[in-house]
Amino acid sequence: MASIFNAMNKQLIPMERFNRDSQVVFFTGAGISAESGISTFRDPDGHWSKHDPMKLASQTGFQENPVMVLNWYADRREAIQKAKPNAAHRTISNFQKLFSNSVVITQNVDGLHERAGNRSIYELHGNIHRHKCNSCGTMIELAKRKMRIINRCACGGGVRPDVVWFGESLPLGTINAAFEAVQRCDLMFSIGTSAQVYPAAQLPVEAQSQGAFVIEINPEPTPFSHLADISVRQEAGLIMPQLYEEFHAQLK
Ligand code: OAD
Repeated sequence: MASIFNAMNKQLIPMERFNRDSQVVFFTGAGISAESGISTFRDPDGHWSKHDPMKLASQTGFQENPVMVLNWYADRREAIQKAKPNAAHRTISNFQKLFSNSVVITQNVDGLHERAGNRSIYELHGNIHRHKCNSCGTMIELAKRKMRIINRCACGGGVRPDVVWFGESLPLGTINAAFEAVQRCDLMFSIGTSAQVYPAAQLPVEAQSQGAFVIEINPEPTPFSHLADISVRQEAGLIMPQLYEEFHAQLK
């Protein structure tokens, strides 16, 4: 197995800057769930390589063909339900025992952080397991058998997955809380995100510019890589346990 010491120079992690009271942010994207078998968006076999995002993840797409949109989300939801959190999700739980002041800020809608036992999770783009009214925003419980058909809220609005679509705002309380956590953090792990979708992609930039140490984990370079203090070009499930061992052994 490749060791972390082959992937990066461990001297570059300034361990003396951190202790168990350090504020730590785990910022994640679709890549952290890739090793659970869940498709990413912008990789060569990702969703947006096969489908037009405006047809499946926009208000216009939903108005034009709601059943197609509902079916696509139902297929994804079912795949996610069969998947399990992987070593990277589980390692965040270990890290959170080491760093009690830590939060998870995720762009993922799959709920795998929660299933792995992570805590203080901010879901910037919603959660695919929830539904809401497209008009009044009321949260709506749907039986599985109803998830592929058009359902109406009491107000008459269509029922949709509680995920953020292109052109929509992120939940205000969540994005504000995320930026506050980032503004006070000492250390950020930016894991498995292409760092292309804003405002989420601003978070590692913000962390870096306010003086936090930022470790990016991604097998591919991203627009953020040149700003990161360390960019580890490895799969998250491989490198996160090794990083944890390093911090566990060296942290005061
Ligand atoms: P992307 O699909 O844009 O990027 C996934 C990233 O994960 C890529 O940079 C891959 O190189 C990397 N990756 C793949 N396998 C990995 C692994 N095993 N370990 C670590 N990294 C790996 O996904 P996001 O950045 O999350 O929006 O995309 C942001 C948003 O765009 C998503 O939340 C989604 C999408 O449209 C909504 O659903 C609202």
